[in-house]
Amino acid sequence: MNYQGKTIWITGASSGIGEAFAKAFYKEGANLILSSRRKEALLEVKKSLGNDTSNVKIITLDLTETDSFPKKTKDALATFGQIDVLINNGGISQRSTVLESEMSTYRRLMEVNYFGAIGLTKEVLPHMVERQSGHIIVTSSVAGKIGTKFRSGYAASKHAVQGFFNSLRQEMYEHNVAVTLLCPGFIKTDISKNALTGDGSKFGRMGDAHKKAMTADEMVDKVMPKIKSKKEEIYVAGFKEGLAIWVQRISPTLLNKILKNQKVT
Ligand SMILES: NC(=O)c1ccc[n+]([C@@H]2O[C@H](COP(=O)([O-])OP(=O)(O)OC[C@H]3O[C@@H](n4cnc5c(N)ncnc54)[C@H](OP(=O)(O)O)[C@@H]3O)[C@@H](O)[C@H]2O)c1
Repeated sequence: MNYQGKTIWITGASSGIGEAFAKAFYKEGANLILSSRRKEALLEVKKSLGNDTSNVKIITLDLTETDSFPKKTKDALATFGQIDVLINNGGISQRSTVLESEMSTYRRLMEVNYFGAIGLTKEVLPHMVERQSGHIIVTSSVAGKIGTKFRSGYAASKHAVQGFFNSLRQEMYEHNVAVTLLCPGFIKTDISKNALTGDGSKFGRMGDAHKKAMTADEMVDKVMPKIKSKKEEIYVAGFKEGLAIWVQRISPTLLNKILKNQKVT
């Protein structure tokens, strides 16, 4: 896949994995639309990409405000005339037990991670179907396959993402629109700092597993060839999470026994 002159719309582009995707697709010569809530942070990312950023536009959006998506999508389409790849990457995590978590925290995780991703996809899809061409990517997680302590709402939102986008893929084969589920393990970003605790306040620090994990740039380097070949499901994880996925396929019961005694951060 050659991205020269193609348009890539990335949510969650102000930091971490989204920022790393912005750098990678900029190097490929693509037109970029960068989205998230924080305009200043997006401007910093844009500035860091290179000297000529005339092919990089910013559209701020809040993934919980799905009513704004029709207008945002209209603006995105007007920017470069088309959208070739949508990367639904913006998201938040969780650090709280079920007993501690308020319903508002569960609802927020679903609003951002699930309804945000499906809402934007639904707006962009008619355009891709009309052109009989396009690629929808969604950053799910290993947590989209495996539930662990302190992540009940996060895992639920990512499992929901998996279900929706697996169904969408079936419907899109006949329209030549590819759907990729990206499932990272621990990646060294601000995800745990921004994670919600039970009352919805921020966790505020980086977990041990994230401190030791690969960076977002390393992750994106690894997955770009698979994105280019429009692989349907991509795993990119450290040894432990990779092993967990494998054990779950063989024996979910064994995985539960192993996870029961694991320290989760
Ligand atoms: N890091 C990991 O270990 C890991 C593992 C598996 C999956 N993931 C997934 O990877 C994706 C990116 O996370 P990251 O690791 O790069 O974390 P991050 O550095 O915290 O980035 C999260 C991004 O999401 C945006 N965002 C959060 N809430 C939003 C909202 N309401 N509306 C619009 N944008 C919002 C943030 O931008 P603003 O604050 O500017 O809005 C930011 O750009 C997430 O979907 C996450 O679940 C991460």
